[in-house]
Amino acid sequence: MFLFFLYLLVFIGSALGQQIYTHTHGPSTRPFCQPTATKAALEKNPTYKYAQFKYTNTETVRTASPVPTFTSTPRYAPPYAEVKHLLPNISTTSWGSWDTRSARPASSHNDGQYGHLAFSKLWEAAPVPNFTSRGLYSTTVSPTPVPTEELVLPPPLLFGPTDCYSVPQDFVFGVAGSAAQIEGAIADEGRAPAIPETFANLPPETAAKLGIRDLSPNYITDENYYLYRQDIERLASIGIRYYSFSIAWSRILPFAFSGTPVNSQGLAHYDDLINFAISKGISPVVTLHHFDTPLQFFGDNQTEILTNAGIRCYLGTSNLGFQHDLFEDAFVNYGKIVMSHFADRVPFWFTFNEPQVGTVNGISVDHVIKSHAKLYHFYKDELRGTGKISMKMEIPPGVPLNPLNESHVAAAEHFNDLQLGPFLYPLALGRDYPSAYKMTVQDYVPLSEGDLCNLKGTLDFIGMDVYTAPIVFPVVYDIAACAANNKTSNSFYPSCVGISETTENDWLIGQPSESIQMYSTPTYLRTQLSYLWNTFRTPVMVTEFGHPTNGTANPPELNAIQYDTVRSEYYVAFLGEILKAIWEDHIHVLGAFMWSFVDNWEWGSFDSQFGLQYVNRTTQERTFKRSFFDVVDYIETRRARS
Ligand SMILES: *[C@@H]1O[C@H](CO)[C@@H](O)[C@H](O)[C@H]1NC(C)=O
Ligand SMILES: *[C@@H]1O[C@H](CO)[C@@H](O)[C@H](O)[C@H]1NC(C)=O
Ligand SMILES: *[C@@H]1O[C@H](CO)[C@@H](O)[C@H](O)[C@H]1NC(C)=O
Ligand SMILES: *[C@@H]1O[C@H](CO)[C@@H](O)[C@H](O)[C@H]1NC(C)=O
Ligand SMILES: *[C@@H]1O[C@H](CO)[C@@H](O)[C@H](O)[C@H]1NC(C)=O
Ligand SMILES: *[C@@H]1O[C@H](CO)[C@@H](O)[C@H](O)[C@H]1NC(C)=O
Ligand SMILES: *[C@@H]1O[C@H](CO)[C@@H](O)[C@H](O)[C@H]1NC(C)=O
Repeated sequence: MFLFFLYLLVFIGSALGQQIYTHTHGPSTRPFCQPTATKAALEKNPTYKYAQFKYTNTETVRTASPVPTFTSTPRYAPPYAEVKHLLPNISTTSWGSWDTRSARPASSHNDGQYGHLAFSKLWEAAPVPNFTSRGLYSTTVSPTPVPTEELVLPPPLLFGPTDCYSVPQDFVFGVAGSAAQIEGAIADEGRAPAIPETFANLPPETAAKLGIRDLSPNYITDENYYLYRQDIERLASIGIRYYSFSIAWSRILPFAFSGTPVNSQGLAHYDDLINFAISKGISPVVTLHHFDTPLQFFGDNQTEILTNAGIRCYLGTSNLGFQHDLFEDAFVNYGKIVMSHFADRVPFWFTFNEPQVGTVNGISVDHVIKSHAKLYHFYKDELRGTGKISMKMEIPPGVPLNPLNESHVAAAEHFNDLQLGPFLYPLALGRDYPSAYKMTVQDYVPLSEGDLCNLKGTLDFIGMDVYTAPIVFPVVYDIAACAANNKTSNSFYPSCVGISETTENDWLIGQPSESIQMYSTPTYLRTQLSYLWNTFRTPVMVTEFGHPTNGTANPPELNAIQYDTVRSEYYVAFLGEILKAIWEDHIHVLGAFMWSFVDNWEWGSFDSQFGLQYVNRTTQERTFKRSFFDVVDYIETRRARS
C-alpha cells in the first residue's frame, strides 16, 4: 500500500456529508441459508411461556484449523539446475553484513570493483543517519508451534452474513507483505541500500503535508528477515494458503546492474523462505519490485538522492528510478536470475507493485512495460513456466459520482484511461496508450506496432490493489485543455478531474479510516471489478485490500488492540461483494490477498497500521487480531468442498 496518491494526484472535493453502510459478518453457521432457521421468524404471533430459570449461556470454543500440508509438491518450471544454461554469466559471492563500528571491514584492502570495500562504500554513501541499531536478531530464528490458546476464535460479530455463495474451489486467497516494510536487517548479509531508506528522511514539511506524524526509518521494522519462519508458521496455523511477499533486488544484486555478482546469502534466504512456506502447505507468491529500487539508480550524491527521491513528481508520487537509462536492462537481468532460481516452486509472479507510484515521466512507463514484457516472454518461452504473471496496479478504477450524468462518466473514463490505461491498454490488449494519457504526459514514448505486438497479452490476469474507490466528478469544462497545460499554476493537472469523498446525497462514500484519508467502499467494488474484466477481457485478482487503523493511537491493552471489528467488517464486506461479482456478474475474480498479514512500516512511519496481527515494537511479538480469525472463518465456511 502506498498512501500518498489521494493527496497528490487528484483534486479532492470538499466533504459534503456522509453515507453509512451496515456491513455484515459471518459466524461459522449460516442460519439464513437453512429453511428451518426461518420457520420461527415466519410465525405471526410470538408464544410466551415460563420455564425453569438456568444460567444457560454456553460458549462454543472453536480454534482455527491449520492449512493441510501438500500431498505432492506442484512444479511450475524446471529446477534451476536444468535452466542455468540460460544465464551463463552469473557469478555468486557474499559480503556479509556492513559493520558500522569499524567503518571499513578487516579486509579493508581494495578487493575489487565489487568487493567488500566497495560494498561498505555503498553504505557509507547512503542516507542512513543514526544507523546503529540492528534489532533483536542477527540469525534466523527457529519456529515454534503456535499454542492452541492463541488460536481460539473471538465471539461472533453482531452482524451476520446473509449471503449463501460459496468460494470457488480454485479461489486464491492469501495475505501479502513487502520486503522493505517487514524485513529490517537492511545492511545485513549483503543487502545494499535502496530507495526506501530515504523515506524517513523526508523534509519535515513534506512529511507534514502527507500527514505523517512520526517519521521512522525502515532499519528494523518487523525483523521478518530473521523471523520469517515464525511468521510463516503463524500463517499456516491460522489457515492461510497463499503468502505474497516481495524479493529485495538489493539483496540479490548489491551492485544492481547486469554483470555484477549475485549475493549467495540473498538467494539462500529466499530459497529457504519458499521451501519453508511449501513445507507448511503455503504457496509462495513473488513480487520482484515493490518500491525498493537500489540506490545506484539515483547517483552517488546524497543530497541529490534525497531531492530526487522526494515526493515531487508530476504523474507518479515518488521517483523510483524507472527512467534511468540502464533500468530496463538491469531489472530484466535481476528478474531472470530470480525467476530461474525459484520458478519451479512459485505459481504466481508480479513484476512490479503499483508502478504508477514511481513513473515520473514517459520514459519511466516505457521502461516498466517493456521490462515486464521481456520477463514475461523469458518466463513463458525460455523457462517454460506454467505459472501466471502479472503486475499489481495502483489507483483503483474510478467510478462516476453520478453515473447518469455524461460529464461525470467522461471524467471517470478519463481518470481510468490516465491512471490504468498506459499499462493495461498495451499489456492486456496490445493497444496504444489511450489519448487521456498522451494528452497529459506529452513526453510519452510512442509505441511501434512491433512494441505492441511484444507487449500484448503479457498479463495472465490483472492484479489490482483495490483499497477504496475514487468517486470521480468533473472540475474543468475542457479536460483536454487542462491536460495539455502542465504548468504548476494549473492546480488540476495532471488528473484534471475531482475526487469526491461524498455521494450525491452528501453522505461520506464509506467508513472513513481513522489514520489516513481513505474510505471503506465495498459498495463500488462490483463496478470496479466489472470495469476491469469487461474492458480488458482478462481475469482479475485483488492483489491487495485492507483497512488501516491509527497505529500511533493504539490502545494500551493488547486485547483492545486485538478487537479490530472495523477491519473485520471491511474484509467481510469486500469478500461478500467479490462473491457477488463472481456468481451474479460472472466476473472471473481469481483471488484476493489481504494487506497485510502483520502491522508494518508504511513508507516512513508506523502511524497507519494495516495488520491482521499486531507487532509489539519492543519485543517483536506478534498477536493475531480478531479480523484475522473473522476473515479466515468467512472464507473457510464458504469454500466449496471437492
Ligand atoms: C557472457 O560473457 C561473455 C564475455 O563477457 C560475453 O561475450 C557473452 O555475450 C555473455 N553472454 C551472455 C548471454 O550475456
Ligand atoms: C540523529 O541523532 C541525533 C542525536 O540523537 C539527532 O539529533 C538527530 O536528529 C538524528 N537524525 C536523524 C535524521 O534521525
Ligand atoms: C550534490 O548535489 C547538490 C545538489 O544538486 C550540489 O549542490 C552538490 O554540490 C553536490 N555535491 C557533490 C559532491 O557533487
Ligand atoms: C452534469 O454534471 C455537471 C457537472 O457537475 C453539471 O454542471 C450538469 O448540470 C450535470 N448535467 C445534468 C444533466 O445534470
Ligand atoms: C509540458 O508541456 C509542454 C507544452 O505543451 C510540453 O512541451 C512538454 O513536453 C510538457 N512536459 C512534459 C514533461 O510532458
Ligand atoms: C491518531 O493518533 C494520534 C495519537 O493519539 C493522534 O494525535 C491523531 O490525531 C490520531 N489521528 C486521527 C485521525 O484520529
Ligand atoms: C510490549 O512489550 C513490552 C515489553 O514486554 C510490554 O511492557 C508491553 O506491555 C507490550 N505492549 C503491549 C501492547 O502488549
